[in-house]
Amino acid sequence: MDLAPAHPARDETAPASAVPALDLPAIQALAAADMGAVDALIRRRLASDVVLVNQVAEHIVSAGGKRLRPMLLLLAAAACGKHDGAGVGADAHQLAAVIEFIHTSTLLHDDVVDESDLRRGRSTANALWGNAASVLVGDFLYSRSFQLMVELDSMEVQRILADTTNRIAEGEVLQLLHVRNPDTDEAAYLRVIERKTAVLFAAATRLGALLAGSDAATCDAMHDYGLNLGYAFQIADDVLDYSADEAALGKHLGDDLAEGKATLPLIHAMAHADGGTRELLREAVQHGDVEAMPRVLAAIAEADSLAYSLRRAAEFAGAAEAALANLPGNTHVAALRGLARYTVNRDR
Ligand code: IPE
Ligand code: IPE
Ligand code: MG
Ligand code: MG
Repeated sequence: MDLAPAHPARDETAPASAVPALDLPAIQALAAADMGAVDALIRRRLASDVVLVNQVAEHIVSAGGKRLRPMLLLLAAAACGKHDGAGVGADAHQLAAVIEFIHTSTLLHDDVVDESDLRRGRSTANALWGNAASVLVGDFLYSRSFQLMVELDSMEVQRILADTTNRIAEGEVLQLLHVRNPDTDEAAYLRVIERKTAVLFAAATRLGALLAGSDAATCDAMHDYGLNLGYAFQIADDVLDYSADEAALGKHLGDDLAEGKATLPLIHAMAHADGGTRELLREAVQHGDVEAMPRVLAAIAEADSLAYSLRRAAEFAGAAEAALANLPGNTHVAALRGLARYTVNRDR
């Protein structure tokens, strides 16, 4: 991974907490060369001779996205010492592409389940081609990720990704069980987001450490970092669903309420509102009632539920940073600390 001269020099003897966290542009610059290789690999390995597969997959992949999960894998590998002047290496690029393929396939499936029609600033695949095509191309990307994964010929990598994808699927089903349930509480919410979101972040960072040849304690620390970051990321996403600038977010606001999804802002508001307002919120969840959005937003404001949710996200991000404590104070660790902060403060 290239080190641009503007970045602070790597000091392997300083503790992780001694290096200042990098901001997003610096992190992106640090990862740019490796991310370019990952992007090229993603595009190359997307291909199919079935036209509709190419169309749908190209549609979502070329819209970009933040590419946060592959970047985490690369930064984790580099933070654990897997870097030379040229980059983190072809195996890390390939595994980063695997993670992004898995993520992309879950997005295709998620937009069907959530009946969403905007993602990454574009009409969703389900809106353009229908649910069947979206689910099936999601399956294509999912199995393509397995093809890329087995090329690496590592049973440990395969075990981690098999367990991770299985947990993600459980998370999505668990979430389905809570849809339109106003009794969903914070503990139940956290159980869902651990599986649907956090475990993939944890796999990305653990795999980075594993590829770097790290010992078990370092792999576990990187896993903890990713898992906590994943919680923070999903909580922030759920705040953005109520508060973002739609154009910046590239998704419609209010999708969660429309689906009857009780996310942390709504859970907090339901727990803190008084009688009449609480009943209104419960009914909005039960009926997935977007018409009630103005009153729901007022209740969320009244209970200060977005601020509460962001505080919870910041706690998880803090735990993510704390997990890095025993890593050396190198520039890539500074980038991982920066991503923990970005995750909570982002606008997309
Ligand atoms: C969206 O993930 C799904 C969630 C877990 C909230 P991202 O916000 O990382 O989506 P892209 O890849 O940047 O579009
Ligand atoms: C994340 O949940 C879903 C996945 C892990 C695929 P959301 O449903 O909140 O994600 P967005 O907001 O549609 O991206
Ligand atoms: Mg969704
Ligand atoms: Mg969301």
